[in-house]
Amino acid sequence: MTQNAQFWTRISRKYAADPIKDEAAYEKTLARTIEHLGPDDAVLELGCGTGTTAMRLADNVRSYLATDFAGGMIEIAEERLADARGQGTAHEGLGFLVADAFDERVVPAGDRAAGYDAVLAYNFLHLVEEPDELQARVHALLKPGGLYISKTVCLKDRAWLFAPLIAIMQLIGKAPYVNMLSFRSLEEMIRKADFEIIETGNYPEPRSRFVVARKL
Ligand SMILES: C[S@@+](CC[C@H](N)C(=O)[O-])C[C@H]1O[C@@H](n2cnc3c(N)ncnc32)[C@H](O)[C@@H]1O
Repeated sequence: MTQNAQFWTRISRKYAADPIKDEAAYEKTLARTIEHLGPDDAVLELGCGTGTTAMRLADNVRSYLATDFAGGMIEIAEERLADARGQGTAHEGLGFLVADAFDERVVPAGDRAAGYDAVLAYNFLHLVEEPDELQARVHALLKPGGLYISKTVCLKDRAWLFAPLIAIMQLIGKAPYVNMLSFRSLEEMIRKADFEIIETGNYPEPRSRFVVARKL
């Protein structure tokens, strides 16, 4: 396991216990995402954490593979899925996997070999160590015209404050790798990987950017 995955596994129980910071913004993110999904869609989620969003969205699509490279996060997601199965509320097409985007097991197969209908990534892109490679990988995983839906924390406008704070926290093992992005650099990075941006929003204000992009 990489050091970064170890960090996320170490904090996974605390992450699961923390309440969602801005419920209204979270609900808006889900609602806007659902608008773009269809009942026959095959969806891949990257950096799914403890599976909260996957459990909320999966009912809207045919299959939903939720992935994260931190085993601790997926362990909690699996516990939640088992609970839902026990109550008969689990969506049959929902599955969790310890994997990053480059893992061969996330490649769509069978009648979906042309690619996923949508790839989702919430609170994730600012944490990726090779962001350009990641955009290219998402592009390859999507079918032509497929959707890339993300929400990303952009800290660049206050990097003077956040960069040193995060650096100190990283030294004591209290922060993961963080990429300082702005709305503009985030959107440029997505466009550069051959996507057309079709919707943006700020949920929550002022630093989280919701982006829906279509594979060209
Ligand atoms: C801030 S949490 C967000 C979790 C969830 N998407 C949410 O919105 O609550 C970031 C997640 O991304 C995962 N992650 C970070 N880098 C990753 C990578 N390269 N591959 C897969 N997962 C990664 C972490 O393990 C963590 O669960």
